[in-house]
Amino acid sequence: MNKPLLDVLDHQPRIPPPIWLMRQAGRYLPEYRRVREKADDFLKLCFTPKLAAEVTLQPVRRFGFDAAILFSDILVIPHALGQPVRFTVGEGPQLDAIADRAGLVALRTELDHGVLEPVYETIALVKAMLPANVALLGFCGAPWTVASYMIAGRGTPDQEPARLFAYGDPAGFAGLIDKLVEASASYLVRQLQAGVDVVQIFDTWAGVLPAEEFTRWCIEPTQRIIAEVRRHVPGARVIGFPRGVGTGLLRYVENVPIDAVGLDWTVDLVFARDQIQCRVPVQGNLDPLVLVAGGAALDRAINRILEVFSEGPFIFNLGHGILPQTPLAHVERMLARVRGTRS
Ligand code: CP3
Repeated sequence: MNKPLLDVLDHQPRIPPPIWLMRQAGRYLPEYRRVREKADDFLKLCFTPKLAAEVTLQPVRRFGFDAAILFSDILVIPHALGQPVRFTVGEGPQLDAIADRAGLVALRTELDHGVLEPVYETIALVKAMLPANVALLGFCGAPWTVASYMIAGRGTPDQEPARLFAYGDPAGFAGLIDKLVEASASYLVRQLQAGVDVVQIFDTWAGVLPAEEFTRWCIEPTQRIIAEVRRHVPGARVIGFPRGVGTGLLRYVENVPIDAVGLDWTVDLVFARDQIQCRVPVQGNLDPLVLVAGGAALDRAINRILEVFSEGPFIFNLGHGILPQTPLAHVERMLARVRGTRS
C-alpha cells in the first residue's frame, strides 16, 4: 500500500492532501497526559521505548493522520553530547548554559549512541504497529536552534545569548555548529536505518538571524547534514522547517536539497505558491491559534490554504506545534474539512 505523504514528497499532488500536525503527540490529548503522569520525567518518557511508541501512535489512532512523528525531543542531542537536559513542568527545558570555550571543550567529541539506543528501539516498535499507508517521520533540531538552547541553557525570546556568543567568538561557535552537524547527521542516519521514512529538520529559531548569519549558521550546516546523511542513506528524504525567515525561504529552498519545506503561519500563501511550491513541495501552514479559536475563522483559514496549495504538491500541517489548550473538536473539524476536499 502506498503512503500519500511520500507521494507528495515525490512531487505528486494528492487530493485531499496528506495531513499531520507538528507536536501532534502532546498535552492537548488526554491519553497523552495519562501516560505522561505515569512517567515522572519527560526524558524518561522519551527513553522508554514502550511508552514513547505508545504516545507516538496515539494521535494516529485517534485522528487517522497520514504520518506519525517519533516521540522524542530535539534536546536529546545535547544530552547525548554530555550536557544533561532537565524538563521541569511549566518551565520548559533547562541545561547548564555554555558560557565560554571551557564549556564547549567539556562536551563529548562524539554522540553517545548508547544514550539514544531507546530512540532507535522506539522506531522499530512503532514501525511494526503503524498502518501501511501512514508514514513515519524522524527528526532532529537544526544546529543553530539546538546550539541556541545549549548556550542559553533555556528558551529565550530572541536567542540573544547564542547570537552574542556567535558574534563574540565566531570560531568557537563554528566549532559547536560543526559538532552538531556531525552529531545530527549520525543521529538521522541511525533513525533512517531503524526504519523512519522521512526526517524533518526543525530550525525553530532561524528567523532571529540577519541574512548573512542565516546563511552561515542555518543554510550551510543544514546542507552539510543532508550531504552526510545521503552519503550513508542514498535518497534519504528530508523536510526542512526554517521558522520565521520570510522571503529568506527562497534562498533556503534554492540552496538546501530538501524534499519539502515547512511553512510557518506568517508566510504569505501566494508568495509561497508562486516562489516556493514551484520548486519544492510545501507543508503547512495553519496558525496554531486559529485552531484554538475554531469556528468561522478556522474554516476560512483552512479553505484559503487548500485553495492556494491544492494544485501542487502539498502536505497540510500547522505553521508551528499544536498548542496544549487546543480543543479536540477543532482538530476533528479541521480534519473533516481538509478531507472533504475534492478535485
Ligand atoms: O509530536 C511531536 O511533534 C513529536 C515530539 C516532539 C517534541 N518536541 C515533544 C515535546 C518534537 C518534534 C519536539 C521538537 C522540539 N522540541 C522543538 C522544535 C519544534 C518546535 O516546537 O519549535 C523544540 C524547540 C523543542 C524544545 C522543547 N521541548 C521545548 C522548548 C519544550 C517546552 C515547551 C513545551 O511545549 O512544553 C519541550 C518539551 C516537549 N517536547 C513537550 C513535548 C510533548 C512537552 C513536555 C511535557 O509533556 O511535559
